[in-house]
Amino acid sequence: MTNTNKNPSSSSTAISAADGPVAVTGASGYIGSWVVYDLMQQGYQVRACVRDTSKPEKVDHLLAMNATDLRGQVELCTGDLFKPGSYDEAFQGCSAVIHTGAAVGYNQETPQQVYDGCFTEVQHVIESVKKAGTVRRFVFTSSFAAVGHPRPRGYVFTEKDWCGDNIEGYRGKWTEENIPKDRDTAYAMAKSSAERMIYEMAEEDGRFEALAILPLHVIGPMMCANHDQGWSWQNCIKHMLQGKPYKKTKGGRMLWNNVDVRDVAKAHRLCAETTVGKNGSRYILSASDRSGELFTWELQARLKSLFPAIQDIGGEQMENGEPMAQTYDSPRSYCLLAKQELGLTTYSIDETIQATGDSIIRLGLL
Ligand SMILES: NC(=O)c1ccc[n+]([C@@H]2O[C@H](COP(=O)([O-])OP(=O)(O)OC[C@H]3O[C@@H](n4cnc5c(N)ncnc54)[C@H](OP(=O)(O)O)[C@@H]3O)[C@@H](O)[C@H]2O)c1
Repeated sequence: MTNTNKNPSSSSTAISAADGPVAVTGASGYIGSWVVYDLMQQGYQVRACVRDTSKPEKVDHLLAMNATDLRGQVELCTGDLFKPGSYDEAFQGCSAVIHTGAAVGYNQETPQQVYDGCFTEVQHVIESVKKAGTVRRFVFTSSFAAVGHPRPRGYVFTEKDWCGDNIEGYRGKWTEENIPKDRDTAYAMAKSSAERMIYEMAEEDGRFEALAILPLHVIGPMMCANHDQGWSWQNCIKHMLQGKPYKKTKGGRMLWNNVDVRDVAKAHRLCAETTVGKNGSRYILSASDRSGELFTWELQARLKSLFPAIQDIGGEQMENGEPMAQTYDSPRSYCLLAKQELGLTTYSIDETIQATGDSIIRLGLL
């Protein structure tokens, strides 16, 4: 990273609702929609960027926010990551850009498209930020994938960790040539490269600072049926509530390190407003404490207790009421820095699980 120290102090780039509109890319998505909601709750004017404003299943829930008592307003704008310059208009006059949009693979994107959508094309977004000239904060939705790497079980990851660390001999997967072959490698390498790129570009430009949010297993209420994307964590919870086995991992065994989508959204806004965080600050959004880290069988037990009317709740393979095998104890990580530096407060795990299930039921997805 160049060290020109051109950036203004973080207190002078911090924004508030009085400083002009904030643009949100990927605004129709699960996280993006809650970012829009949170900003409007705080009185911001929001430019919600979507690929196609004519798709009611993707935008109606955003437009409906204008008819509520939220203090801010939202307007729809268009933008496509793969089209250079397509965010130029949306970012004009904005004080901050929150970039949640990404080709994450839910829509059957290839690993190469995931890589490009999460890294290569981020450059287009930053180019539009620079053209606007008014943007003071760029908040990027990275991922815990940019942090996690092989460590002994129980290791507690922090923001100092990077996904390229300690990977010698890691099944030979961690190479540029493997990007087109493996979605997880493509995703992790893309998010970490994108983070490094945005911090460097912000440093060089000097007019804005870039900060990142690194979520782990995001669950919590869905606003519309379109948020029920196949293989998303919220979709997996739906499957469990339908009594189906959890199939994303072998035997359904996994350590769920849960964070509420509403807390993830709030943390994005706090990154735009913070006078403590600065260019290059990155915040893991995961469980607040051990109560939010649940093995699949423990999550299943919480679902049973919170939704007693549902007879059969699926999850991991059990035998005589006990898990059939031990789960590898990882990833452990806590959103302590976000609490310390951004002043984030979080939902309890039961509030989050309850709200996830309630939204699934309310939307008729069961
Ligand atoms: N959910 C998680 O557990 C989790 C964890 C870690 C990190 N993240 C990160 O969080 C961000 C949001 O994820 P999400 O869970 O909210 O996923 P999502 O619901 O699928 O949202 C992704 C959004 O990206 C937009 N998008 C896709 N391709 C695009 C393109 N070519 N140009 C412009 N926009 C495009 C989609 O908008 P349209 O289809 O409407 O255009 C969609 O609104 C992503 O960057 C993801 O990597 C998520």
